Amino acid sequence: MVIETILINTKAYEHGVGRSLESLAKICKEFKNVSLAVQPTEIWRVTKHKVPVYAQHIDPVPYGAHTGWILPEAVKKVGARGTLLNHSERKLKMDVLKKTVSRCKSIGLETIVCASSVREAKRIDMLHPDYIAIEPPELIGTGRSVSEVEPSVISRTVESVRAKVLCGAGISTKEDVKKAYELGAVGVLVASAVLKSKNPRAEVRNLSRWRE
Ligand code: G3P
Repeated sequence: MVIETILINTKAYEHGVGRSLESLAKICKEFKNVSLAVQPTEIWRVTKHKVPVYAQHIDPVPYGAHTGWILPEAVKKVGARGTLLNHSERKLKMDVLKKTVSRCKSIGLETIVCASSVREAKRIDMLHPDYIAIEPPELIGTGRSVSEVEPSVISRTVESVRAKVLCGAGISTKEDVKKAYELGAVGVLVASAVLKSKNPRAEVRNLSRWRE
């Protein structure tokens, strides 16, 4: 098993848009297996620097009269590898999630679907997403890492689902990444440690040195 991605979720942070995002994309490019989940309007800024990129959310609409919805084909055409769905800050109903995962499969977009608990992860697994990202909401943005504070939620998710498992919430250091890997996750999601840092390069470098 390998760490497939350190996925930096820019959420709606100020440094996740415009020129700041382009600087962050250049930093990500320097390190192995670092990718970004960004606002759909910002995907092109990341593909420009040849960094794997995911759209934060899409809608399961087809081509047609759907003003204001995010068309899966549009994010695919601008170069997104996939999409991050059902984040605890953007929850979806199960029927919508089912349609969205299925639309993504039909056009070749990868799906990373967030789950807040092992129970939810099991239900989501029935939709056959590519990845399930387990993120206990109470730890998000706290700097208290899921892999240190709630290790069993990661290992139980890994045991319970067929999808590959990522984990997130409070991940800030290479030790957090290493622990996640030892618990069976194939990657991590990170936001505030990088997006709120005065030195994002130092943070990304530290996270990517998890094997040392
Ligand atoms: O999707 C990742 C995110 O929810 C984790 O946030 O700030 O705890 O790294 P943070």
